[in-house]
Amino acid sequence: MSLFAFLKSRTAFWLSLTGTTTGLAFFVKDLMQGGQFTKETNETGKVFIVTGANTGIGKETVREIAKRGGTVYMACRNLKKCEEAREEIVLETKNKYVYCRQCDLASQESIRHFVAAFKREQEHLHVLINNAGVMRCPRSLTSDGIELQLGVNHMGHFLLTNLLLDLLKKSTPSRIVNVSSLAHTRGEINTGDLNSDKSYDEGKAYSQSKLANVLFTRELAKRLEGTNVTANALHPGVVDTEIIRHMAFFNNFFSGLFVKPLFWPFVKTPKNGAQTSLYVALDPELEKVTGQYFSDCKLKEMSPAATDTQTAKWLWAVSEKWTKPAMIKIQ
Ligand SMILES: NC(=O)c1ccc[n+]([C@@H]2O[C@H](COP(=O)([O-])OP(=O)(O)OC[C@H]3O[C@@H](n4cnc5c(N)ncnc54)[C@H](OP(=O)(O)O)[C@@H]3O)[C@@H](O)[C@H]2O)c1
Repeated sequence: MSLFAFLKSRTAFWLSLTGTTTGLAFFVKDLMQGGQFTKETNETGKVFIVTGANTGIGKETVREIAKRGGTVYMACRNLKKCEEAREEIVLETKNKYVYCRQCDLASQESIRHFVAAFKREQEHLHVLINNAGVMRCPRSLTSDGIELQLGVNHMGHFLLTNLLLDLLKKSTPSRIVNVSSLAHTRGEINTGDLNSDKSYDEGKAYSQSKLANVLFTRELAKRLEGTNVTANALHPGVVDTEIIRHMAFFNNFFSGLFVKPLFWPFVKTPKNGAQTSLYVALDPELEKVTGQYFSDCKLKEMSPAATDTQTAKWLWAVSEKWTKPAMIKIQ
């Protein structure tokens, strides 16, 4: 074999191998993108709140609602990041009814302030999307002394939702959408140490907070029976967002080079991660569906722990005690 023929055969081999691998990676990536919400709806005149809307799934949720004409309040803790995202969305969708408002879910004062200001601006709220979340962070506390993952993912949204119920009831048919996670199936509500004061495991605290999202949804749906306000929970899929910001394993040079590319085919884009939120928030067929759990734009079974009525009631009582939603402070 001549040197040229040898080199050509090797090149052809590597080209076909990398070509096949790349093709396979794209094929798997396409398969993993999950259900799509393609139904056309017109959201003009409807008012939405999306928490944690400056990036990831929340930002893509706002983008699509804005495209469909909705009025959207982006409830974010960092107004600079929020404004950057808002500007991008307004320029793209030509919908000027997209607003940034400060709401730090790790501060009950900030939540109360957000709600009071919102009520001065709007008399109606048609859809509340409780999307913001923090995952596997080192142990820290909200300004009210609650473990951060429980505080932001559950307690903050519990308070926000309860403070907005009067508006939701005035705006029927209206919806509450709680972005939970498949991680809820690994969750346990630690009734002896809910705040992880005695011991803290960042994975368990995340799963606990996501189970709390589903338990809250079910108890809320029961309490809202007959009001035409629905409450549902969902898992968005495994989505390529900033949610892994506290996971050292994914955030170093080595991982960027070798680990992330391996995971790439198996994760959804943020746009595709927003599809189930959009489905649950907008699909006219779900107008009366409540107390359920969805993933990939389909009804899914929740974990047995999420159907435990006694724990749901217990969690509601503790959440009320820790956040005092009945105490409305006039700003
Ligand atoms: N990505 C996934 O694979 C996945 C899987 C299952 C469930 N989820 C759930 O999906 C939801 C959205 O997550 P994501 O993947 O889009 O993550 P992300 O890109 O990290 O976005 C999270 C959002 O929450 C906001 N947030 C965090 N702490 C907050 C606070 N104290 N007050 C107000 N906002 C706060 C963040 O604001 P900053 O930018 O200012 O931090 C950000 O806007 C979360 O509830 C998450 O648990 C995600």
